[in-house]
Amino acid sequence: MDTVRLSITSYLDDEHYDSQLSPRMRRLSQLHWSPLEVIRAAAGFLCDKPGSKVIDIGSGIGKFCITAAQHYPDCDFYGIEQRKDLHGIALLSRQNSSVVSNTHFIHGDFTELDYNNYDGIYFFNSFAENLCTFGRIDNSVQYSPSLYNYYANYFYKILENKENGTRLVTYHGNDGDLPSSYQLIDSSFNNYLKMYIKSDPSHS
Ligand SMILES: C[S@@+](CC[C@H](N)C(=O)[O-])C[C@H]1O[C@@H](n2cnc3c(N)ncnc32)[C@H](O)[C@@H]1O
Repeated sequence: MDTVRLSITSYLDDEHYDSQLSPRMRRLSQLHWSPLEVIRAAAGFLCDKPGSKVIDIGSGIGKFCITAAQHYPDCDFYGIEQRKDLHGIALLSRQNSSVVSNTHFIHGDFTELDYNNYDGIYFFNSFAENLCTFGRIDNSVQYSPSLYNYYANYFYKILENKENGTRLVTYHGNDGDLPSSYQLIDSSFNNYLKMYIKSDPSHS
């Protein structure tokens, strides 16, 4: 059974975060859940003003939303996750943390969401599991390269429809999947973490 065992108000490091997880979730940690240092850098860029609303597309066990929300209590973090068990772990982790009011978790496919309300997007290469044959989270969902293409095209359209000034952070992302209107502002962590702002002259 995947449970959250500790009651925690702030996380010191990834080991501390992982210590609340079940052995199965801990095993997935290195490959699938963002490191805390990455989350802090990403949230710092995405929360450029108080009241910012940030969506994590493919939020997994909620690590990004919960730990970012601890650092930016005046911003709101939303996560959408397709796997019900991971969504459940996110809800439990939120309950055991001090960030209940500014984290919001939605169970569902990211294609079902209205993206109008968000100022910033965090994206840790959520569709890659359709292309990899190793390290998958489980076999509860269908995988295929054509699903990857469908999701990547849908994500592209979401980004295209956002207004200028929208902030985007990708971790292990693929520049080729992004509209050219997203200007690269900074990159770090060996170029795996990239920060963009939408600036499309035809949209001003
Ligand atoms: C690499 S994990 C990242 C988790 C989290 N964002 C983080 O940074 O710790 C990607 C997550 O995206 C989810 N995902 C993949 N395709 C999805 C879809 N179509 N809709 C919603 N979630 C999806 C997976 O189930 C997985 O939990």
